[in-house]
Amino acid sequence: MNIRVARVEDLMAMQAANLQNLPENYVMKFWIYHAMTWPQISFVAEDEKGRVVGYVLAKIEEPGEEGSEEVHGHVNSISVLRTYRRLGLAKRLMLLSQEAMAEIYGAKFVSLHVRESNKAAIGLYRDTLGFEVAKVEKKYYGDGEDAFSMRLNLKHTGKGKV
Ligand SMILES: CC(C)(COP(=O)(O)OP(=O)(O)OC[C@H]1O[C@@H](n2cnc3c(N)ncnc32)[C@H](O)[C@@H]1OP(=O)(O)O)[C@@H](O)C(=O)NCCC(=O)NCCS
Repeated sequence: MNIRVARVEDLMAMQAANLQNLPENYVMKFWIYHAMTWPQISFVAEDEKGRVVGYVLAKIEEPGEEGSEEVHGHVNSISVLRTYRRLGLAKRLMLLSQEAMAEIYGAKFVSLHVRESNKAAIGLYRDTLGFEVAKVEKKYYGDGEDAFSMRLNLKHTGKGKV
């Protein structure tokens, strides 16, 4: 299994994986915008035949955006195809993205939203990567479910290595 920076030609496969794995889906313009604007912080996992089996899509928010005073990364979407789960791929995708956010953009922290019922993702973020819940956003999702808004301070990332 290989993990590398996402390229424009991966975007269709990333969108297909997203449609298969998550109810939060995005038009192609959104994927292209992220890949073109912040080309070094989104990654894919590919199998031995070069098929995309997982991805992380991320962006950078500058001071003032989203009410933040510090430059930070934000994970828009991450997923791994069902048969490739629990192999450590999501952890590696997240660690590579976090590292690039800090090194290339000087990001001070990384933020994301997760459904409060999403045990697997919360396990990944909180237990494996060290994220904390910054706040609960009521009815954040289209179906009315609350989101945990989570954060990881990149200055203190000491949990695990890629
Ligand atoms: C969440 C998701 C991305 C995790 O991907 P993954 O590649 O299986 O995760 P990893 O193998 O890197 O797991 C790392 C850690 O996360 C936690 N974790 C992963 N899956 C878990 C599960 N089903 N239950 C509990 N904890 C889990 C564990 O702590 C795990 O470490 P361990 O295997 O040593 O116990 C994957 O389950 C997925 O694609 N889910 C559907 C999409 C989704 O929910 N995305 C997140 C939206 S916010």
